[in-house]
Order: sequence, then C-alpha cells, then structure tokens
Amino acid sequence: MLKRLKPEDAHLLLNHGPVVLISTADKKNNPNIMTLAWTGIVNSEPPLIAIGMGEQAYSLQSIKKSKEFVVNLPDRKLIKSVLHCGKISGKNRDKFSETNLTPIKSKIVKSPKIKECFAHIECRVANQYKYGDVTLFISKILYADVDGKFFDGYLKTDKIKTLHHLGGGWFAETGRRFYPTT
Ligand SMILES: Cc1cc2nc3c(=O)[nH]c(=O)nc-3n(C[C@H](O)[C@H](O)[C@H](O)COP(=O)(O)O)c2cc1C
Repeated sequence: MLKRLKPEDAHLLLNHGPVVLISTADKKNNPNIMTLAWTGIVNSEPPLIAIGMGEQAYSLQSIKKSKEFVVNLPDRKLIKSVLHCGKISGKNRDKFSETNLTPIKSKIVKSPKIKECFAHIECRVANQYKYGDVTLFISKILYADVDGKFFDGYLKTDKIKTLHHLGGGWFAETGRRFYPTT
C-alpha cells in the first residue's frame, strides 16, 4: 500500500545522500565547519554541485562573501564531529579545535579542507538563489581528491562507510558494493 507523504516531508525520501562537512573561512580568515545533508551533483561536465544552506548558518555569511567552500566527506568514525558541527554555530566558536579536526591548505580555494575526511571537493559559487530562508548555491568544482585506499575509479563502499542522514536523529551507512551482471 502506498503511504501518502506531505510535500514538506518528501525530502525524507531523498535526504540520504552522503552527509558532508562544509569548510569555509570567514572574513577574518577564521576556519569553520558545518554539517550539511542537502547537497547533490548537478552536472559532470562542466562539474557542478548544489548545496542548500539556511539563514541560521554562519557559514552562509562566509560563503556569500568569499564565494567558495570545500565539501569534505566524513566517514562513519566521524559521527560525533558531524553531530557537533551540525548543532553548534561557528560564529563565536572554533569547531576545528572543539572536534579535534585539522584544517589543511586547499589546492585552489582559500577555505581550508579537513585532514581527517577521506575526500575533498573545492568549489567556487557560480550562482546563488534565495528561496525564503534557504540559499541554493550552484557551484563549480575546481579540484577534488580522495584517499586512494577507498577509490579504484569508484568509491569502495565496503571499505569506507559514508554517513547518510535519514532525517530526525536517524542515519544510515554504506555497505557492500556490487556490479549487476545480466
Ligand atoms: C545531520 C545534519 C544535517 C544538516 N544539514 C543541513 C543542511 O543541509 N542545510 C543547512 O542549512 N543546515 C543543515 N544542518 C544544520 C547546520 O549544520 C547547523 O545549523 C550548523 O550549526 C551551522 O553551523 P555554522 O553556524 O557554524 O555555519 C544539518 C545538521 C545536521 C546535524
């Protein structure tokens, strides 16, 4: 039997793309980290990514000013940091030191990337659209890297467990990867 969802709950069916940590530098060059579930690839050539960010986020001010950020991929082991960076605002706090995560230099953008994350995508904003309290950033991917242990052309999801936010307090993690044969 099909269960009807309210339009405002339909995101719960698509919410579980990998949770990412967005790293930014604010106007005083202080580094910050924010947890974000609402992201997705828009295109591969040119490489474009979308993120949806609410007014509550201090990171929003930083990205509006710098027009850049890094999408970092945490794995299952970083769940505590993911929760912390999604609860606390970095406006007056240093979430890097609070989570013991390490900011390291990015290749192209000024925003740092997070050493403990297994992959990083450096982005520059191409367009931004505001809908009520949320801003959608469509951004160009300038540079990306991934720990070779977990990538052989495709993510080795049996070796690295990415986190997927289902909504509320629920998460899922990746498992066995397979190649369908006919
Ligand atoms: C699992 C999870 C996913 C989240 N996803 C988003 C999101 O997609 N967009 C958003 O604006 N906030 C999201 N948040 C909330 C922000 O991470 C939170 O407001 C954070 O404190 C903002 O940090 P900042 O003020 O330092 O930028 C999420 C929080 C959690 C725990």
